[in-house]
Amino acid sequence: MTHSIGSRQVRQVLVTGGGRRLGAAICEAFARAGWKVWCHYRASKAQALTLCESLRAQGWDVQAVEADITQEAGRQALMAQVTANAPLDCVVNNASAFEPDTGLDFDVDAAQRQLGVNLIAPLSFARLLAQQPGATEESNRSAIHILDQKVYNLNPDYFSYTVSKLALERAVALQAQALGPGMRVCGVAPGILFESGPQTGDNFLRASRANLLRRPIDPVDVARSCVFLAETRSITGTTLCVDNGQHLVPLPRDIMFVVDELLKAGNSASSSSP
Ligand SMILES: NC(=O)c1ccc[n+]([C@@H]2O[C@H](COP(=O)([O-])OP(=O)(O)OC[C@H]3O[C@@H](n4cnc5c(N)ncnc54)[C@H](OP(=O)(O)O)[C@@H]3O)[C@@H](O)[C@H]2O)c1
Repeated sequence: MTHSIGSRQVRQVLVTGGGRRLGAAICEAFARAGWKVWCHYRASKAQALTLCESLRAQGWDVQAVEADITQEAGRQALMAQVTANAPLDCVVNNASAFEPDTGLDFDVDAAQRQLGVNLIAPLSFARLLAQQPGATEESNRSAIHILDQKVYNLNPDYFSYTVSKLALERAVALQAQALGPGMRVCGVAPGILFESGPQTGDNFLRASRANLLRRPIDPVDVARSCVFLAETRSITGTTLCVDNGQHLVPLPRDIMFVVDELLKAGNSASSSSP
């Protein structure tokens, strides 16, 4: 739903984990597209406040908001806060936990923690958004779940994380069915964007080119894709891969562990070609 404050048409979006990295790019993209942005943070208070201050200085409407989104009470309180004066039009479920484990040794508490933030929180925010009163045929409410190219390109590293994103990917269609017609649900599946876990800068630089286009994926493109989905009323129940084709380069392990072998193989293949 679009609402007006004075003569201005305002759409509101909540971005979870919005203070840094991809979340910050998503906040900025929505702000520049004219949305009022609620930038959720947990630990990254300084980054979230700095980001919001800088965007406000450029004339955009951005507000940082702290919340514990691991518990339903925290999610409900956050939704109540951001909808106090106007309805919310979109939630981008970006916050995520990425912890190394395997199918053989995963720790149950760590697995549950990742399922909580990566799966249950997104499902819950989408449902809370759908439950807001006032949906009409003209409404354009949406939830956008940030996934990972891994869901289309399986390898057993980061096992619990991958399980949580796989379930969320399937839930894009399921929730679209469950929450329509008042609400759309879409996914965005990025490839590698930032250094993560034990990765070194050098490893990241090489891994970021291990895709069909042989160049790093621009986080701004991922962010712009979220705005596109939020603003495109005909799309629901589907996921956009924004990964330079990384999901079409199958690997036996996470890219950070095999990038050297992959690039070596690629180089020898191209040097032996005519
Ligand atoms: N990085 C990549 O290369 C990559 C690749 C493919 C897909 N993705 C996906 O893209 C999204 C963003 O990636 P990213 O690397 O920018 O994310 P990130 O830095 O790993 O995490 C984003 C934010 O999530 C919040 N968060 C983590 N655990 C939380 C918890 N238990 N409760 C509340 N908030 C929590 C944190 O906010 P605070 O800092 O405020 O605590 C964190 O800054 C994620 O969904 C990720 O799975 C990333």
